[in-house]
Amino acid sequence: MILIIGGTGFYGRRLAPLLANCGEEIACMDINPETADFSEHSKQVRVMRGDVSQFDDVMNALNIAKPSRVINLAYFLGSDYPPRVAFKLNILGMDNCFEACRLAAVNRIAYASSLAVPGERKFYGDRRINEGDFRHGHVQYAMHKIFNEWQAQDYCEKHGMEITAIRPANVTGPDKIIGSVDHVFCITTPARGNPVSFPFRDAMRCPIHVDEVAEIFARVIVKDKPEHWICNTGGQAVSLGEIADIVKEFLPGAQITFDKDTGGKEVSGNYLIDNTRLVQEFGVQYRPYRERVLQIINDIRREAGLPLIGGR
Ligand SMILES: NC(=O)c1ccc[n+]([C@@H]2O[C@H](COP(=O)([O-])OP(=O)(O)OC[C@H]3O[C@@H](n4cnc5c(N)ncnc54)[C@H](O)[C@@H]3O)[C@@H](O)[C@H]2O)c1
Repeated sequence: MILIIGGTGFYGRRLAPLLANCGEEIACMDINPETADFSEHSKQVRVMRGDVSQFDDVMNALNIAKPSRVINLAYFLGSDYPPRVAFKLNILGMDNCFEACRLAAVNRIAYASSLAVPGERKFYGDRRINEGDFRHGHVQYAMHKIFNEWQAQDYCEKHGMEITAIRPANVTGPDKIIGSVDHVFCITTPARGNPVSFPFRDAMRCPIHVDEVAEIFARVIVKDKPEHWICNTGGQAVSLGEIADIVKEFLPGAQITFDKDTGGKEVSGNYLIDNTRLVQEFGVQYRPYRERVLQIINDIRREAGLPLIGGR
C-alpha cells in the first residue's frame, strides 16, 4: 500500500493510476479529495479527505491505509502566501508527514522538492547544475523546499529513514495552471485558438512533462534503499521562441508573439540541469519534447471539441 498525500492534484492524478497499473494499492489523502477521478481504478485507489498540516489527520490516514511507503505532494506553489499560511502547509505539513511515518514505522518516503532550490542561473555560469551545488534559493518557496531537504536528511541520519527528494524542473501538462506557466501557455493558448504574447523570445525554460514526473515518482518510491537523497529530474532546455516554433509546426496559424527577441536569457531561472542520478539509478528516459508538445495540443483540443492534429 502506498499513501499519496496531496494525491488528487496535478501530479497525483497521474501518479495514483500509474502505480495502480503496476499492481500497487493506493490511498490518497487530500484536502480537496474531489479534484481527481479515479473511478477507473476504484478497486485499487481509495481517496480520503485530510489536512497534512493537522498531525492527527496524517496519523489517521496512516492508521487507515497502513502503507509501507508514503509520497507527499501537498504544497503551495509560489512565494506570495502569507508566512504563517505557507509555513503550516510547506514546513509543518512536511514534518507531520516525516514524523507520523517515523511513529508508524513507515521507513520509505518520497516528496517533491524543486528546481527553485539551487536558485538563479547567474550562480552557475554555463555549466549544468547538480544536486551537490550550494542551495542559493532565497524566495519563500525555495527556502521552504531547502528546509524540507535539510529536515529529510536529519530524519534519515537520526532515525535511519529512507527519504528521497525529487527536484522537478518546469513541469508541463495541459492542466498546469500554477507555478511556471509561460512555457505551458505558449502551447495551450494557441491550441485553443487564442493569441498569446510574452516579453522575451530568448527566455529559457527546462520543461518536463508531468507524465514523466509521475513515472519518476513511481520508480523511486518502490526502491527500498535508493542511492541518493536528492535527485534532479532535468528536462529539455528550450527557449520560449523555440517552443513557439514547435507549436507553429503543428498549428501554422498559431498567434504567438514576443515583445523582444533578446534580454530574457539573462533573467531566466535554471535551465541547464544534470539528471545523471535519476538516469543512472532509475533508468529514466524522456520522450522527445516535440512529442509532448503535440500531446498537450491534442489534450487541449480534445477537451475543447476541436479536431486533433496529426504528428508530422
Ligand atoms: N507543478 C510544478 O510545476 C512543480 C514543479 C516543481 C515542484 N513541484 C512540487 O510538486 C508537488 C506537487 O505539485 P502539483 O503540481 O501536483 O501541485 P497541486 O497543487 O496540483 O497538488 C497539490 C495537492 O495538495 C493538496 N493540498 C493542498 N493543501 C493540502 C493540505 N493542507 N492537506 C492535504 N492536501 C493538501 C491540493 O488539494 C492538491 O491536490 C509540490 O510539492 C510542488 O511544490 C511542482
